[in-house]
Amino acid sequence: MAINKAKIFAVTSVKGGTGKTTMVLNLAGIFSLQKKKVLIVDLDLYGSAIAASLNLKYKHDLYTLADDLQNNKFDFIEKYVTKYNDFIDVLPAPKDLRNANHIDSKFLHIILSKASMKYDIMLIDTNHFLSEINLVTFDQCDEILYVITNDPIDLKNMKSMVAIYKNMKNKNYKIILNEAKDIQRNYFSNIDIKNIIKDNIDYTVPNHFYIKNIDKYVLDGEILTLNTKIRNSRKKGIKNLEMLANNLLKDKKD
Ligand SMILES: Nc1ncnc2c1ncn2[C@@H]1O[C@H](COP(=O)(O)OP(=O)(O)OP(=O)(O)O)[C@@H](O)[C@H]1O
Ligand SMILES: [Mg+2]
Repeated sequence: MAINKAKIFAVTSVKGGTGKTTMVLNLAGIFSLQKKKVLIVDLDLYGSAIAASLNLKYKHDLYTLADDLQNNKFDFIEKYVTKYNDFIDVLPAPKDLRNANHIDSKFLHIILSKASMKYDIMLIDTNHFLSEINLVTFDQCDEILYVITNDPIDLKNMKSMVAIYKNMKNKNYKIILNEAKDIQRNYFSNIDIKNIIKDNIDYTVPNHFYIKNIDKYVLDGEILTLNTKIRNSRKKGIKNLEMLANNLLKDKKD
């Protein structure tokens, strides 16, 4: 059997609630339609939003996996993932939040390396902190995707982050402007935003992709990009997400 090495993408931000989890799920949907084997890793350890969004029932999670590694009880990665559909598996964040603190970043390298042999794509949902867990994760990624919104604090924080990357001479990231999350807030133009963050916007989720009754889809455990009604009514948003997905596969690691 051929051994694959997945392309790994972390979806992050510089402020909470910008649309990271939604982006991870939407990209997973698009890749799955291209018949790519996708693993979603929920590294928002205290948030645990992926399994909840997809209504998954699961026994194993990142904590049980790290714990088994620590105790030499790990056998194979398939035991720890939960299937969403034929193409999407999930490695959930700890079900018991008290265990979130007990995942040592030293296991992340092992977990991501083992999983990357079994998938085409790995999408990692994160929180917006520059924590040890996130930094170790970013190091292992082919690309880091920053989801930003039209919000002054978010944009000022992104400016600081861009400065850090410039200082490190690292351009291993893409900036995605999520206009769809808060359609009331559109007072900065793209030029304003570029001037504030001192960088380019690589992709946009257009405000046209705003889904008024998004909570219904979350309650039903649905991925927006796999829903026929949304695919037909939000063609521009779907096209932008497909373009992003296709370009991610083309980009090479520096
Ligand atoms: N296209 C959209 N249309 C409508 N609402 C959206 C859209 N995308 C995101 N949202 C809403 O914005 C909110 C934040 O989205 P999401 O949970 O994906 O952000 P997040 O960055 O993962 O948040 P956190 O930092 O808390 O993990 C949610 O209530 C979500 O339903
Ligand atoms: Mg989230």
